[in-house]
Amino acid sequence: MKKIMLLLLVPAIAPVSAASRYLGGWAVVTVDELPDYATVRQPLKLSFIVRQHGMRPLDGLRPRVEARSGKVDMSVDALPVLGAGSGRYVATLSLPQPGDWTVTIHSGFGAQSEPTLLPLPVVDSRTAPPRAFSDADRGRRLFIAKGCFTCHVNTEVTNAQSLSIGPDLTGRRYPAEPLAKFLAHPDSIQLTRVTRPNSFKMPNLGLTEREIASLVAMINTGRQVSVR
Ligand code: HEC
Repeated sequence: MKKIMLLLLVPAIAPVSAASRYLGGWAVVTVDELPDYATVRQPLKLSFIVRQHGMRPLDGLRPRVEARSGKVDMSVDALPVLGAGSGRYVATLSLPQPGDWTVTIHSGFGAQSEPTLLPLPVVDSRTAPPRAFSDADRGRRLFIAKGCFTCHVNTEVTNAQSLSIGPDLTGRRYPAEPLAKFLAHPDSIQLTRVTRPNSFKMPNLGLTEREIASLVAMINTGRQVSVR
């Protein structure tokens, strides 16, 4: 399946120059509510939006969510959530054993649009819930689950392959308030005067206040604030 998609894509983009990777076949997958943990055999609903170039919600895809732990490798179809133009899908997982589960969302739209989330702790219903993640750790999880990594390199957080559409965020720190404002409404302020690598804009991913607080804590981890 993958090979066929690649073969179809290559002739389409080959004549285009270096800009080609910015065009066409890539999307940003944004998980709606990222759980801190799940319980064995209890339905876990994972809903997400697929947006082409982080902007246009994509309906009509057939996404699949894969979950792996130890020798178990399972996969469920994600169904479209009603509401044309929402680009939203939901997969219901029932994870059969405790442990760390690696969840990959195969969006069905291009090889670059298949995020693998940071491991999800799954506990037995009789054991106490695991300790909550710190804000910064949750921010790290969100950096993948919200699709930030698709557009931004940040080697302090992840080595997952990025398309580098936006500025490299490795080592960048920002005053917290403007950063939070920018993440909530990217159009409302310009954070810095870094040279833009292309004409793409930072999308509004519909982040909640709590998610923004976690992302700000993560981006500003352990360093003095500095603005270039
Ligand atoms: C579709 C690609 C895309 C996605 C997804 C994306 N960004 Fe951006 N981001 C950009 C672009 C392009 C810019 C630069 C232009 C601008 O400021 O609008 C930018 C700018 C930024 C900046 C300001 C950088 C600076 O120094 O000026 C920060 C911080 C940032 N993004 C964080 C995030 C976080 C956190 C997420 C995930 C919640 C995210 N971005 C998701 C494309 C993206």
